[in-house]
Amino acid sequence: MFFLLHVGPCVGSLARVTPLTPGREYVDLMARWVERIFWYELEEHGRQVRIHFSNREGSGILSRMPRRRAELAAMLRDAQSAAPQAERVRGGSWLYHLPGYRALFPPSFLARAVPADPQDEVNRVALWGQFLRGDGTLYRPHADPFIDAIRRANSLEQLFRAFPLTKLNIVGPLNEVTDWLSRG
Ligand SMILES: CC(C)(COP(=O)(O)OP(=O)(O)OC[C@H]1O[C@@H](n2cnc3c(N)ncnc32)[C@H](O)[C@@H]1OP(=O)(O)O)[C@@H](O)C(=O)NCCC(=O)NCCS
Repeated sequence: MFFLLHVGPCVGSLARVTPLTPGREYVDLMARWVERIFWYELEEHGRQVRIHFSNREGSGILSRMPRRRAELAAMLRDAQSAAPQAERVRGGSWLYHLPGYRALFPPSFLARAVPADPQDEVNRVALWGQFLRGDGTLYRPHADPFIDAIRRANSLEQLFRAFPLTKLNIVGPLNEVTDWLSRG
C-alpha cells in the first residue's frame, strides 16, 4: 500500500514522455528530480510547470519548512532554466488543504484553487493521500468518517462524497510563487 501510494504516481507519470524541444525530452528532466520530494513535469511546450510532491522522508516532513521552501525554490529555478518560457505553475492535490503545505505558496496562488470532481481522481494519490500520516500509517481522523460514510452510502454519488477532502487544482503565475519563496 505504502509503496503503491508513493511510487505508483511517479511511474505513471514517467510513462508520459512528451518531447519538449527537438533532442530534449521531459524524461531527462524528470530523471534528475523524480527521486526528490518535489519534482516537476513541463507541460504546454514548457510554458507550465506541474509540481509533484512525494513523501520520501516519513513523519514530520511538513514540519521542516525552511528545508521544504528551499527545495521547492530550487526545483522551480531548475524548471525555469530548463524552460525559460515557463510562465505558469500547476498543482493538484488534497495537500492544498493542509496548513503546512499551504504555507509553501502565496495566498494569491492558493485563492485560485478549484475543487476537482472525486470521480476523476479515484485512482490517484492526490486524493487518497489524505488517509496517510507521514509515517505511512492510517490518519484516523480522515479514515474513520470515510469508512462510516461509505457504509451508509446508497448511491455512487454518495460514495464519492465520502472523501473528507477534495483534490484542489491550482494554476497560477510562476513568478507569484517564486517571489513568495524568495521572501523566505
Ligand atoms: C501529507 C503528509 C506528508 C503529512 O505528514 P506529516 O507532515 O509528516 O505529518 P505527521 O504524520 O508527522 O503528523 C503531524 C501532524 O500533521 C497532521 N496530519 C498528518 N497526516 C495528516 C493527514 N493525512 N491529513 C490531515 N492532517 C494530517 C496531523 O495534525 C498531525 O498531528 P498529530 O500527530 O497531532 O495528529 C502525509 O499525509 C503523507 O505522507 N501523505 C501521503 C502522500 C501524499 O498525500 N502525497 C500527495 C501527492 S499529490
